[in-house]
Amino acid sequence: MSETIHISGATKEEKYLSLVPQIKALVEGETDLIANLANITAALKYGMDFFWVGFYLVKNDELVLGPFQGTVACTRIKNGKGVCGTSMQKKETIIVDDVDTFPGHIACSSASKSEIVVPVFNTKNELVAVLDVDDDKYATFDKTDQLHLEEICKIAGELL
Ligand code: SME
Repeated sequence: MSETIHISGATKEEKYLSLVPQIKALVEGETDLIANLANITAALKYGMDFFWVGFYLVKNDELVLGPFQGTVACTRIKNGKGVCGTSMQKKETIIVDDVDTFPGHIACSSASKSEIVVPVFNTKNELVAVLDVDDDKYATFDKTDQLHLEEICKIAGELL
C-alpha cells in the first residue's frame, strides 16, 4: 500500500477515476472497520478537496457519528431528520444544492453550503451507514459525485 493517495486529472470525473481504485487498494487486506472507514474519509476529503466527509453508522434506528474528516459534527441524528436522516429513511442518495432550502437541515457548520448523502448497504442489503459529504460552495454535487460515491459506499458496505 502506498502511503499517499495521488490524485491525477483535472476534471471531477478524472479525479474519481483515479481515486476509486486507490481506495479499493487501501482497504484490501485490512479487516478493521474503523481504520478502513477513517482512511476512506481522508482519501475523499484530501483527494477531492471537500469541506467535510464522514460516515454516520446506523445504531438502534438512529445515526451515530463515525470516522470523519473535518470540523466537529453533531453526534446523533434521528431517522428521518436532516439530510442524513432523510437518506436513511428513504434509503436513497440525496443531493442538496443549497442546504438552507432543505427543510430540517441540520447545520453542523455554517460554512457548509451544499451536501450529498449516500446510503451504505452491507452484503445482506441492510442499511448500515450513510456517507455524508459537505462542501463550502453551493451546488458542488451532481450525478458524477453520486455515481462514484455510491461505488465507494459499495466498497465500504462490504466491510460492514
Ligand atoms: N447536515 C447534516 C448533518 C451532518 S453535518 O452536516 C456533518 C444533515 O442535515 O443531516
